[in-house]
Amino acid sequence: MSKPLQQKVALITGASRGIGKAIAFELAHLGASIMVNYVRNEEAAVETVTALRDMGSEAHSFQANAGDGADQTLLVDETFKLFGGVDILVHNAAIGAFKPVHKLKPNQWDLSMTINTRALLELTQKVLPSMESRGGGSIIALSSLGSHRFIPNYGAIGISKAALESLIKYLAVELSPKGIRVNGVSGGLVDTDAVRHFPEFEKFRDEVVRRTPAGRIGAPEDLARVVAFLASPQSAWIYGQILTADGGLSLI
Ligand SMILES: NC(=O)c1ccc[n+]([C@@H]2O[C@H](COP(=O)([O-])OP(=O)(O)OC[C@H]3O[C@@H](n4cnc5c(N)ncnc54)[C@H](OP(=O)(O)O)[C@@H]3O)[C@@H](O)[C@H]2O)c1
Repeated sequence: MSKPLQQKVALITGASRGIGKAIAFELAHLGASIMVNYVRNEEAAVETVTALRDMGSEAHSFQANAGDGADQTLLVDETFKLFGGVDILVHNAAIGAFKPVHKLKPNQWDLSMTINTRALLELTQKVLPSMESRGGGSIIALSSLGSHRFIPNYGAIGISKAALESLIKYLAVELSPKGIRVNGVSGGLVDTDAVRHFPEFEKFRDEVVRRTPAGRIGAPEDLARVVAFLASPQSAWIYGQILTADGGLSLI
């Protein structure tokens, strides 16, 4: 049976763990070949690639800091070499200091803006010639509710995600004539390693569960399925949107 992303190549930043890993499995499920990017945790990356191959997908991993220009070039070049090009770019890697905004140091601000936001622009510029030569593509970035509402100690990431959402909309218009769609997926609290660094995580999680109409926090697959939808032809008419999957949290 033909799968909607057969013959497509997906490059996913931060795909060794958490939501990025779940995205890798969802896209592989639809037939895509996967480049798993990671920065430190080689063991997790190898484990992810092995599991993807076990399910019949072509997959490789590559260590690169998604926020570093030279590393991005190496990552994209290696992807072109191994897979022949890129059809789907998912910018999922993100980082940020958990502290009040008014206590952020300039380097902490820069770190989040560089990895979470500017990397989407730079990676897009680097994969653009390949997407154009292949007749189009889909670019998706991960955002969060903290882009437009206050979450304690989350400002470094939240502000970078606000800029990311704006960048998505600008790119969506500019790249539409090239057959490239650019969208975002946003969510509330999702159960990954990252959220364990939240100050008083357990208390925060219980409060989010209490306030979420669906009665639980998110699982990585809850966001990954939306990314897969945006990567597939099923969403062909969706341009520059930030689709929120949060169990209804943002409604309250
Ligand atoms: N968790 C949530 O509550 C939540 C909610 C909404 C949106 N999101 C968004 O979803 C995305 C993934 O979050 P997550 O919770 O799954 O994170 P996570 O569990 O911390 O996983 C982070 C992944 O990104 C990689 N990574 C970190 N810095 C990197 C860098 N500079 N270059 C390349 N890779 C890097 C890590 O690689 P290593 O394994 O090598 O460390 C790992 O694969 C983020 O954009 C986040 O803002 C998260």
